[in-house]
Amino acid sequence: MATEESFLLDVREVRQETADAVSVVFEVPAEHEETFAFKPGQFLTLGVPSDQTGLVARCYSICVPPGEPLTVMVKRTVDGYASNWINDKLVVGDSVRVLPPAGIFTPKSLDADLLLWAGGSGITPVLSILRTALAQGTGKVVLFYANRDQDSVIFGDQLRTLAAEHPERLQVVHWLESVQGLPSQEQLRAFAAAYADRTSFCCGPAPFMKLVSDALRSLDFPRDRRHQEKFVSLGGNPFGDVEEVLAAQATLAEADDADEADEAPAAPAFAGPVAVEVELDGTHYAFDDWDGKEPLLVFLEGKGVPAPFSCREGECSACACMLLEGDVAMDRNEVLEAEDLADGIRLSCQARPLTEKLRITYNG
Ligand code: FES
Repeated sequence: MATEESFLLDVREVRQETADAVSVVFEVPAEHEETFAFKPGQFLTLGVPSDQTGLVARCYSICVPPGEPLTVMVKRTVDGYASNWINDKLVVGDSVRVLPPAGIFTPKSLDADLLLWAGGSGITPVLSILRTALAQGTGKVVLFYANRDQDSVIFGDQLRTLAAEHPERLQVVHWLESVQGLPSQEQLRAFAAAYADRTSFCCGPAPFMKLVSDALRSLDFPRDRRHQEKFVSLGGNPFGDVEEVLAAQATLAEADDADEADEAPAAPAFAGPVAVEVELDGTHYAFDDWDGKEPLLVFLEGKGVPAPFSCREGECSACACMLLEGDVAMDRNEVLEAEDLADGIRLSCQARPLTEKLRITYNG
C-alpha cells in the first residue's frame, strides 16, 4: 500500500468544477486516517505518472474542511503536464501516490475575524479555511475573490450557499476582470481598510498577491496577521524513486512576497553531537546524537519521527518547524523570508546545527 514514505490512495470521485478544473476525492483507508488528517489550508503532493520521467511530483491544495473526504482541486495550467493529465485522464478507481498533508498556510485561531483573498484557483486552500472557520469558529469572514470572468469562478455555487447559510458571518465579494478590469492597489486598499483588524490569508497569482500585500502593508497590517501562499517550482523528487522530476507548480505555504526573500544563510559548521528535542502532533521526542552531517529532517526520519516534508529541496515549506531553543542554519531556502526567519521558522530539510542544543516544534 505504501512506499517508504508515500501512500497509494484510490480515487473515489472526480468532480468537474469548471471547464478546466476538477476536484479529486481520495479514499483514505482507516489505517492511514491519522496520517492524512489535515489542517485547513494545507496541500498534498501527488505523483503523476509520466512516460518521460516515470513520475511527476506536484502539490495541490486541499479544498475541504477537516473531517470531509480528502479532496484537492486541480485547475489546468497552460502546458502543465500534471494538471492536464489529472483533468483528462484521472478516473474513479485509479490509484495515485500521495504524500501526507503539509504546509503552514493555516489559521492559528478559527475564532479570529478573517479577511480572505483568492485569485483564480487560489480559492482552493482559501475555501478550506473559510468553510472550517464557519463550521468550527465564531469569527466573521469576508472573501475577496478575483477571477478573469464569470466562467472562471470555481466553487461559485458553494460560496453562494455558504453566504446564504451564514448571512451574519460571511460576505463574498466577487471581482471579475472582464467587468471591472484588473484591481489596483488603491482599490484593494480601500476594500481592506474596513477590515484592518482582521487576519488576512491570500492565495493567487503572484501579481495579485503582491497587490494585496502592498495594500495591507500600506494599512499597517502587522506581520502576524498577513499570510500568503505562493506558487513555486519543485525541482526535487519527493517520491525518491525517479531520477528526474519536471519542474512542478506547487501551491505552497509561506508568509509573504517572493521578491523579498532572503538569501539562504551559509551552511554551518557546528560539529555535534547536538541534543535535539522535538514536539510533533502532541508527542515529545528527545535525542542526543545529531552530528549535523545530515539535515535535521533526515536525522529525525532515521529516528522514526514522522516529520512532515514534500520537496526536500528548501523550495516548499512543508517541513517548516519553529525554533524554541538554539538555532540552525539552512543549506538552501527558497521560501522563507526575513520575517519568517525572525519569527524562528526554519526548514528542517535544510537545517544544520548551529548550537549544541536544539528544541523545535512542528505544532506551529
Ligand atoms: Fe520542501 Fe523542506 S520539504 S522546503
